[in-house]
Amino acid sequence: MCGIMGYVGHRSALPILLDGLRRLEYRGYDSAGVAVLNDGHIEVRKTAGKLAQLTAITGTPELLSGTAGIGHTRWATHGLPTDANAHPHSDCDGHVVVIHNGIIENFLSLREDLQARGHTFRSDTDTEVIAHLIEEELQGPETRKHGNAEARPSGSLRITNHESRITMVPLEEAVRRALQHTRGAYAIVVLCSDQPDRIVAVRQISPLIIGLGEGETLLASDIPALLSYTRDVLIIEDGEMAVITARGATVQRLDGAAVAKEPMRITWDAEMAEKGGYPHFMLKEIHEQPRALQETMMGRLDVPRAPELDGVSYTSEFVRGLRKLWITACGTAYHAGLVGRWVIEHWAQIPVEPELASELRYRHPLIDPNAMAVAISQSGETADTLAAAREARKRGARLAAITNVVGSTLSREADDVLYVRAGPEIAVASSKAYITMLVALQMLALDLGLRRGAMAPARAAQIISALKALPGKAQEVLLREGEVESLAGRLADRDHMFFIGRGLDYAVAQEGSLKLKEISYLHSEALAAGELKHGTLALVTPGVPVFALVTQRHVYEKTLSNIQEVKARGGLVIAVAYDSDTEITKHAEVVLRIPDTDDDLAPVLSIIPLQLFAYYVARARGNDIDQPRNLAKSVTVE
Ligand code: M6R
Repeated sequence: MCGIMGYVGHRSALPILLDGLRRLEYRGYDSAGVAVLNDGHIEVRKTAGKLAQLTAITGTPELLSGTAGIGHTRWATHGLPTDANAHPHSDCDGHVVVIHNGIIENFLSLREDLQARGHTFRSDTDTEVIAHLIEEELQGPETRKHGNAEARPSGSLRITNHESRITMVPLEEAVRRALQHTRGAYAIVVLCSDQPDRIVAVRQISPLIIGLGEGETLLASDIPALLSYTRDVLIIEDGEMAVITARGATVQRLDGAAVAKEPMRITWDAEMAEKGGYPHFMLKEIHEQPRALQETMMGRLDVPRAPELDGVSYTSEFVRGLRKLWITACGTAYHAGLVGRWVIEHWAQIPVEPELASELRYRHPLIDPNAMAVAISQSGETADTLAAAREARKRGARLAAITNVVGSTLSREADDVLYVRAGPEIAVASSKAYITMLVALQMLALDLGLRRGAMAPARAAQIISALKALPGKAQEVLLREGEVESLAGRLADRDHMFFIGRGLDYAVAQEGSLKLKEISYLHSEALAAGELKHGTLALVTPGVPVFALVTQRHVYEKTLSNIQEVKARGGLVIAVAYDSDTEITKHAEVVLRIPDTDDDLAPVLSIIPLQLFAYYVARARGNDIDQPRNLAKSVTVE
């Protein structure tokens, strides 16, 4: 997700902003920008690309002498990574600048309204509406002045203060009122040339930390950016607004009620701080899953009965004429595709063929224009997936992409793009990208099902409400981490493990097994539970761990029979089961519990204990978890 940095104090703000942004680089970003307030003017510099490119356009005296400013590294969600879309964004006159992490769900209608009232927009972002809304609240719509911000080369913007301007409303009040018009999850930071002593910041889900220094105050989206300047921080909570000045910070709720906060002293070292206090990125990313799920669904499931999939532009007529869907991907993304197959066939009644991208590209598939190909890729740059997607398109299929990276090659080549919005995933072993791919596929399946009339609206409403409950339930699974950790401690010295399940449980078994292999380096295999007796059962000897997933009620009894086959050979059965399943304790030695949900959505929860298990086994074995041997995050070779 985007990086945020702010400073107000007695020193030159620019080097501090750049240094803070540099310490947030690990989050990944595609463009960067700063705004510095100097002598009543706000100077903005921003550019697509890396901080080095930003640094190259910021060494000017007017920027260096300012002692208040804000900085941002952007990870695109709305609009391509271009100079114009980089933050900060300003109002018409350039008196207000805003940086933002997160999503404003209703930005399209807000933008239309603002344009109708005469506001000029310079970017494709959702963020820019905030600057214009604040502009109106500061001045009142009837007195709003038209801007004279003059564009300059290299994405820079000089902003001239109006001598005659009379600002009556305090910035924090204008921000509060402006945000009443918005819906979404965000952290925003606002600087105004007419009220130069302060920076206003608001958190609504996306993280925001205030750093308290001597005669200076800072803010950032993450602690590592602050540690060179102070170790005393205030953690801003959802629905809170902070006003920072050189003298310190005041915090209030968005309804205006004051909040008393005690500073917290951070004792983490720099490396720990970068990982949010977790020892590894993978564990951090596993814990980010509830929030990532929220972001994936944000603004897409607000209509009671049909998803609104931004970036997807196929027509209902096209969907009704579809004869077949191909899903293609590699590794974890392919495993997500297996779950996608199930829900699309089930809910939309379209035959789906999932195919590994490295196979599809060479097997002369019988793809025709009545088909749609869905290519899934976290990075959007995996060579095999790109080649398979191109092959499908060459044969006439419409191409839909499910990806995490805005502006990636896959997203640029596809006809429809559904971003999973997991935020940057750093660990090689995928966790939050997988889980958000599942939800993206479930939303796609819902959309297809409704457009084809294959899904009853009542069932769709049921699924939507079950989807919305998933972030909270994922959080519940994470609270049970300790049980998984102790199981991993018991089993970390084993050489082989097996994962079995039927239907969607089999799809999750494959991902659980891959996760374990990838980072623990022990041998594991996933099998359709009914297939065990056709060969692999020969490897099940006393004490061999077999994970059995039993969330699919329609095949529950069948899977229990397969569990009995394992037990009869002395295998150690570890079940992943719903809280309500009392029967399973009679069959499994260990039960890892997940909250009950719709069976079709169970993979989103049942994978979490398996991710944690893989993580803790790898940790017990002393492996390099974030960068496992022989593997790369993005595989751009065949
Ligand atoms: O970026 P992609 O989703 O296209 O990557 C595909 C695979 O390389 C990837 O999922 C890989 O299997 C993961 N490291 C598994 O955790």
